[in-house]
Amino acid sequence: MSNSSIKTQPTIFIIFGGTGDLTSRKIAPALYNLFLDGWLPPQYAIIGTGRTQFTDEQFRTNLHSDIDQFSRSGKAKEAKWNEFEQNIYYQVSDIKDAETYKEFGKSIEKFNTAWKTKANVIFYLAVSPNFFPIIAANIAKAKLAVDKELVRIVIEKPFGHDLETAKELNKLLTGIFHEQQVYRIDHYLGKETVQNIMAFRFANSIMEPLWNRNYIEHVQISVTEQLGVEERGDYYDGAGAMRDMIQNHLLQLLCHIAMEPPVSFNADEVRDRKVDVLRAMRRFGPDDVRMSAVRGQYASGWMQGKEVPGYREEPKVNPESNTETFAAVKFFIDNWRWQGVPFYARTGKRMHQSSSVITIQFRDVPHLIFPTGAAESWQQNRLIISIQPEMSIRLQVQAKRPGLDMVLNTVDMVFDYKGTYDTQAPEAYETLILDTMLGDQTLFMRGDQVEAAWELIMPILNTWQNKKSLNFPNYSADSWGPESAEALIARDGFNWFTLPIKK
Ligand code: BG6
Repeated sequence: MSNSSIKTQPTIFIIFGGTGDLTSRKIAPALYNLFLDGWLPPQYAIIGTGRTQFTDEQFRTNLHSDIDQFSRSGKAKEAKWNEFEQNIYYQVSDIKDAETYKEFGKSIEKFNTAWKTKANVIFYLAVSPNFFPIIAANIAKAKLAVDKELVRIVIEKPFGHDLETAKELNKLLTGIFHEQQVYRIDHYLGKETVQNIMAFRFANSIMEPLWNRNYIEHVQISVTEQLGVEERGDYYDGAGAMRDMIQNHLLQLLCHIAMEPPVSFNADEVRDRKVDVLRAMRRFGPDDVRMSAVRGQYASGWMQGKEVPGYREEPKVNPESNTETFAAVKFFIDNWRWQGVPFYARTGKRMHQSSSVITIQFRDVPHLIFPTGAAESWQQNRLIISIQPEMSIRLQVQAKRPGLDMVLNTVDMVFDYKGTYDTQAPEAYETLILDTMLGDQTLFMRGDQVEAAWELIMPILNTWQNKKSLNFPNYSADSWGPESAEALIARDGFNWFTLPIKK
C-alpha cells in the first residue's frame, strides 16, 4: 500500500476498552500496520482508556506484546516500534464519571496546542454495548462532540439486541452526533474479498446481463467456523447465531450480491442500494419461519483429534441453554431482479470447516446436445466467491476432457489473490480505521440499514424465543450442522456447497 494520493489529517484516537481483547487482537495491530504502511499522519495520538491503573509505559509494553502476537506483519521491528510507541498514552477512566471526560478534553486541547491545529478526534467504543449510552451521553455533556466535522464515534457490534433496542440506540446517538459522525462497524465490510464483490460486479460489464433471475437459479452464503464460543459464553448465550452473524455479516454479504448498481461510490449511494435490498426482502410469518429457518446447537465431540465440550458445557453458558449456535435461513427478495430466486444463508460454530463462501448457481442449459455418457459429471455453472480462508473467485464451467471421446467435466477458471498479487491484504480493521480517519462511511452501517436488518429477522427471533427447541443439542462438533439444514435446501433440489480444503 502507498498513501501517495490520500493524506490523513492529525488524529487523536480515544479507545474505550483500551485494555480489552478487541484492542489487543484487532485495533492495536491495525493501527500499527497503518503506521508501517505510511497511512497514519505525522501527528497522531492513541489514548487507551480503561478502569485498570496503568502508566503510559505499562500500556505501551502491553500493546507491544499484543502486536508481536497478533499483527499480520509479525513481530514489531525495534526501530519502528520505538517510533510508533511515542504516540501511545494511557488514561485511567471511570466511564460514568464526568471528570474522566474533562480529562479527555484537556488531552485533546494539549495535542491541538502542541500541533497548532484542530485534530480529528475518534472515540472508539470497544466496550460492551451496555456502556454505549453512558459513554455517548457523557461525551455530549463534556461538549466533546460539538465539532461535527472533526469528531467521530466508532461503535462495535452488536448494535442493539433487537429492533427496539437498535432504534433506541440510534435515537440516542443521533441526538448527540450527526449520522455522518457515527461509524457502526460490521468488520465483514472491511474484508478485502468482500470489498472486491463490488469491484467484480460493477467494474466488469460481462456480469450484469447474467446477474438476475433469468440466469441465476439460487445463491448460497455460508459462513462456518470450527471454533466454539471460546471465552465469550456470557455474551453469546444472550445472542445466538442469528443475532451474532446473520443479522449483520451474512445479510451484508447478501446485500453485496443482490444490490442494484449504485450511481456512484458515494457512501450514501451505496448504502441506499443496500437498504433497498433489505426492504425488498420477503417478510416471515410464523408458518414461514418453520419452513424457512433452521436452528441448531452443538454437542460435544472431537475436532482435529481433540475432545471438545458441547455448547451447554462451555464456560459462562447456561447448562440448559436454548441459544442457537447454528442458523440457516431461506430468504427471498421481492423485486424485479430476484423474484423467485432463493438465497440460502447458513452459519454455525464448531462446524467441520472454517470457511466463508458465496456460491451463485446459474440455471441449467436449456437443452443438452451431448450424448448421455458424455455428461455424467455434468454440473450447472457456478460462480464461487471465497471470502476466507481461501481468497478467490472461481467460475465453474464445463469443458471437454482431452481424449478421443467426448467426455465433459467441470473445470475452474480461477482468480486467486495469492497467485495474482504478492502484497499481503490488509486486515479488515486497517481498512475500517483508515476510512474512519478519512471520513468515508461507505463500509459502515447506516442507522436505517441496521434497523432494516433487525426488522427482517425479528419474526424468526420471536418465533424461536416463544417456542423452545426440544432437540438441542442437535449437531455434533465437527459436522455440517443439523440434518434439518440439509433438508432445508434439499427440499428445493439443491445441496450446500463447500470448497475442498487445500492441504
Ligand atoms: C464476530 C462474531 O462478529 O465475527 C463472532 O461475534 C465470529 O462470533 C466472528 O466468530 C467471525 O469473524 P471472522 O472475521 O473470524 O470471520
